[in-house]
Amino acid sequence: MICRHSDQHGGFVDTEQRLEIRTVASDVAQATFADDVRAGLLATPKVLPPKYFYDALGSKLFEAICLLPEYYLTRAERDILERHAGDILDAVGSPVEIVEFGSGSGEKSRLLFNAALARQPELHYLPVDISESALRSSADAMLDEYPTLRITGYASDYDGAIAAMRDRVRTGVRRLALFLGSNIGNLDERAACAFLSGVRATLDHGDALLLGTDLRKDAFVLLDAYDDPLGVTAAFNLNVLGRINRELGGEFDLTYFSHMASWDEADGCVRMHLASLVEQSVDIRTLGIRVAFAEGETIHTEDSRKYDLATVDRLARATGFERSMTWSDVDGRFSSSLLVAAG
Ligand code: AVI
Repeated sequence: MICRHSDQHGGFVDTEQRLEIRTVASDVAQATFADDVRAGLLATPKVLPPKYFYDALGSKLFEAICLLPEYYLTRAERDILERHAGDILDAVGSPVEIVEFGSGSGEKSRLLFNAALARQPELHYLPVDISESALRSSADAMLDEYPTLRITGYASDYDGAIAAMRDRVRTGVRRLALFLGSNIGNLDERAACAFLSGVRATLDHGDALLLGTDLRKDAFVLLDAYDDPLGVTAAFNLNVLGRINRELGGEFDLTYFSHMASWDEADGCVRMHLASLVEQSVDIRTLGIRVAFAEGETIHTEDSRKYDLATVDRLARATGFERSMTWSDVDGRFSSSLLVAAG
């Protein structure tokens, strides 16, 4: 689709000319959904990686989670960006280009675009998202809204995009990378360090990463956020079994599983599981396997780490960054840290 817009000079600019989508294949052979389901459900204890939550239905359920009164993370981070986008851009310097890992709808990024475009006439935005259709639809909307925005989207996993961006020559422009929403909380420490080191490799000395991290807090507040009374998070969690049914010929009866959220104080982590309510065996036809569950047996589906600033500092230093500034929301629930690429 080609959209046309009036520019400031009364002419027209094709949004298509301001959009490039690069599809990047990862160097490393990725396990497929089928591989991970087979390995995870035949393992003891059973586990499914959280990245499989996000099929079309799961992505909509996550959007609904972000609207829940109990799930404060999205609103808290938006509050920070509404109040401090200008401070963040001033700290990075201009002109700047903005890279976003896991871009989604880009609602929060717009707050940073507004601040950047108040300091420079044009902006280059480089979102990374595994879903090309999600990239295209959010890019179309953004290009409509911002006549001087140019977008190079990477339809890729993070490793592929990092490898592609490392080689991109760039002069005279600072780079601000974004990893928002406490997405880092879903990575274990090793994966978080590998990701941050990869991002660091795409940055020059003095560039920066804005990292959103949810903070440690009262267990009841956390458990309400991950086990809401409407049952949206339960549906989000159970949907991974629905996805196995839809895509792999699974025969899960979702009514025989329940959502569980727990807080591990020692690890600073909210854990999600699915628990089998009865002893049962479930066939997954495409995989040719039958999975046996004892009553009460669980599948571990997600960890969501909660941070303190000492941990952010430790991760930053281990991966070539120095934390320069941190902002938090009015209730002190969430933090946004600017990690500057150290020399
Ligand atoms: C995407 N991620 C940061 C969310 C979180 O809070 O860990 C996923 C989520 N899981 C349950 N609710 C939301």
